[in-house]
Amino acid sequence: MQHDKVLILDFGSQYTQLIARRVRELNIYSEIHPFNKIPTQIHEYKAVILSGSPMSVRSKDAFHPDLSNIRGQKPVLAVCYGAQYLAHFSGGEVAESNTREYGRANLNFVQENEPFFNNISVGSQVWMSHSDTIKSLPTNGKLLASTHDVENAAYKIEGETTYAIQFHPEVYHSTDGKQLLENFLINIAHVNPDWTPNAFVEETVEELKEKLGNDKVVLGLSGGVDSSVAAMLLHKAIGENLYCIFVNNGLLRKDEFTNVLKQYEGMGLNVKGVDASARFLDALAGLSDPEQKRKAIGRVFIEVFDDEAAQIKDVTWLAQGTIYPDVIESVSATGGPSATIKSHHNVGGLPDFMKLKIVEPLKALFKDEVRRVGASMGMDSQLLGRHPFPGPGLAIRILGDITAEKVRILQEVDAVFINGLKKWELYDKVWQAGAILLPVNSVGVMGDERTYEKVVALRAVESTDGMTADWVDLPYAFLQKVSNDIINKVKGVNRVVYDISSKPPATIEWE
Ligand code: XMP
Repeated sequence: MQHDKVLILDFGSQYTQLIARRVRELNIYSEIHPFNKIPTQIHEYKAVILSGSPMSVRSKDAFHPDLSNIRGQKPVLAVCYGAQYLAHFSGGEVAESNTREYGRANLNFVQENEPFFNNISVGSQVWMSHSDTIKSLPTNGKLLASTHDVENAAYKIEGETTYAIQFHPEVYHSTDGKQLLENFLINIAHVNPDWTPNAFVEETVEELKEKLGNDKVVLGLSGGVDSSVAAMLLHKAIGENLYCIFVNNGLLRKDEFTNVLKQYEGMGLNVKGVDASARFLDALAGLSDPEQKRKAIGRVFIEVFDDEAAQIKDVTWLAQGTIYPDVIESVSATGGPSATIKSHHNVGGLPDFMKLKIVEPLKALFKDEVRRVGASMGMDSQLLGRHPFPGPGLAIRILGDITAEKVRILQEVDAVFINGLKKWELYDKVWQAGAILLPVNSVGVMGDERTYEKVVALRAVESTDGMTADWVDLPYAFLQKVSNDIINKVKGVNRVVYDISSKPPATIEWE
């Protein structure tokens, strides 16, 4: 079944991915393409959104795509730079703004009963973020709304289905942003909102059946959401022909390998658990440099995975849990139309001799959509709600060299912390949490004796994508209880500290 699609032309705004997500929250499928690579099959898209940009339309390098196949032929919504672009190059005027146009503003409608503003009240809060301003509208432009500081905050172009807004409807602070997108996409552009998680599952399973036939597929499970949801989809499509491999690198959380393996088996997956802890620990012996540790883990993972895959006769496909943010081509804000494709790091550069074809069933989904798809297939909510966990596992949370004893200590500490978060119903309020084993000993007293033992740091952050993060203000009573429990229960630790740094300038992991 074909769904209506929306094209988002990216001019390099930090908010472009948010536009795509907001559109998809309306159950409408959207794709992001760089402004300089407009898809040739433009007829496949029902509507087009032009994104914002850090660039000024007045700059000599201003991004200037040819929209002649789009304007007047498709409904267009131009956001921020998009709105300035339409004005500047089509008979209007854009100039540097002399007031600060950043932050909250309130809309005043100039036109009554404009369907673009259906169900949105006068005074609705919108989010501005720009330094240029539209002084005069383009040819055939008709003003729709203003704010206190921005006269031309919204306009349309008569004779076309083209709307333009200076503010960002995709940002949470634009309180009616979603309604505005709905008004434009559903009421004005008549896009059919039929792209739901259930529909995605049904169609993807059919596509996978057709693509894979009777072929065998191998997939590395990590215990994380993406690989687990990818496995469920493939399992629905090809059943026992999906061979899952779950490697214990000895750097997982306490009891994780056994518990998650059981869960996978309970889901009916054809999964083999491979305990390669000793092999990883051997390879890590004596290494303190984080990059060297990462490389050693990546190398051994490939060796182990390869050994296992080689035992499956006639396997032809490798499945990966790649998601949409990994494949979006991004527009460089400063480097003009240079476009880069991020490489997926979870499988860490497969060796050439594994000549397998790649299948990536989640390639079109954002992380929250992966969760919705998992939920719609009945995946266990605990598995779906798990915090992100880095591929190299506890290796990047043990600073300095790694030994079996250090892994044991950190696993115990981490378990007290994570179980505590769950018990206090804090786990789901935190985006990611974990413990770090520091390479220092500190003095303490236990009973009559002085001790000289390890220090651990606890870290809990709020974030949406890991790119920025804030430390979480956990209750003192909780921190006190967890600190006591750790020091009393985990032999070898006599001091607990809590990390109160945000990212940037700090990072989430300490490595
Ligand atoms: P940082 O420390 O860069 O972490 O603020 C951001 C997010 O990325 C995760 N992370 C990793 N994930 N391999 C991974 O698969 C890695 O080497 C790695 N390093 C950091 C980290 O847990 C956080 O969610």
